[in-house]
Amino acid sequence: MLFETYVQIIKDGGLVAFPTETVYGLGADAWNTDAIHKIFRVKGRPSDNPLIVHISDKEMIHSFTDSVSKKAELLMDQFWPGPLTLIFKKRPEVLDRITAGLDSVAIRMPNHEMALKFIEQTGPLVAPSANLSGRPSPTKPEHVKSDFGDTIPILNGGSCEIGIESTVLDVRGEVFEIYRPGYVTPSEIGKIAGCRVRLHEMGKHSKPISPGMKYSHYSPAATVLWMDKNESLSDTGTLYLIHSDNTGISPAKNIVTYQGDYRLFIHEIYDRFRQADREQYRRIAIEPFEASPSDELKYALLNRIRKAIGYRTA
Ligand code: TXA
Ligand code: MG
Repeated sequence: MLFETYVQIIKDGGLVAFPTETVYGLGADAWNTDAIHKIFRVKGRPSDNPLIVHISDKEMIHSFTDSVSKKAELLMDQFWPGPLTLIFKKRPEVLDRITAGLDSVAIRMPNHEMALKFIEQTGPLVAPSANLSGRPSPTKPEHVKSDFGDTIPILNGGSCEIGIESTVLDVRGEVFEIYRPGYVTPSEIGKIAGCRVRLHEMGKHSKPISPGMKYSHYSPAATVLWMDKNESLSDTGTLYLIHSDNTGISPAKNIVTYQGDYRLFIHEIYDRFRQADREQYRRIAIEPFEASPSDELKYALLNRIRKAIGYRTA
């Protein structure tokens, strides 16, 4: 299919899956309520989980918010296009279907040539990850296809460079709050914006500020669990993921070793989850580790693993 055909599908109120540097997105015209409604329907997404607006040009932001502070501007200059989603007070025109009734809107500019070219032609797109709700985010076109079959046209951009979703950051307060840890880390944000950055804790508010936090998603059909200390790595029904270096453990068909390369682990994790399902493993056992927010990338990885295990912060 021609590139223009994908553009036309969006203009006609349809959905298109497109690549970004983080994961594939399921895009719809940000000004078309019916199209956005389709996203929730085909994904089976709870309607109280708001969507991110994707733009290709900084000027596009002004249709969605009037409240861009100097500090937010600094972050945009430094990290856009890139895996950082910013939350602003929304303009009244922004569709409720996007924000799930919140008075804020999440916006990002993906760092992917094809995505930028696409959005340039379609206008701003809302896009959640292009997976069925409850499945791991797609990092390859075949992942999108395995969830939606031929019902969703896919712009093929190969494999996503990063492999986990963007950092979600609320820039409305004095202290900036991270709702979802990711590739852009708290210390990088603090350094550029010159302000304090903290991790938003669930449970402090009766209504979750970032509804996505309460759902256990990112999970494959196989049971994800932390590996037992004494695990012998001999169960052929288990896919073992070993991240630390110098373990002396040799890779095998069902044993993946990352030798301390957390970026590679992040890049592959959702694909490994899906591989486990394709190859019908019963379990995915991950070598345990701890991480605090100051551990940055490792913390973002831990966040996704905990979600897959079914951990909830509240
Ligand atoms: O990397 C990404 O961000 C990918 C690619 C496709 O851009 N998109 C993505 O979208 O991960 P989604 O819908 O799977 O996750 C969006 C997250 C959810 O946790 C949602 O609750 C949060 O962003 N979010 C969206 N709008 C928000 C808002 N106004 N306030 C707080 N959280 C918001
Ligand atoms: Mg998602």
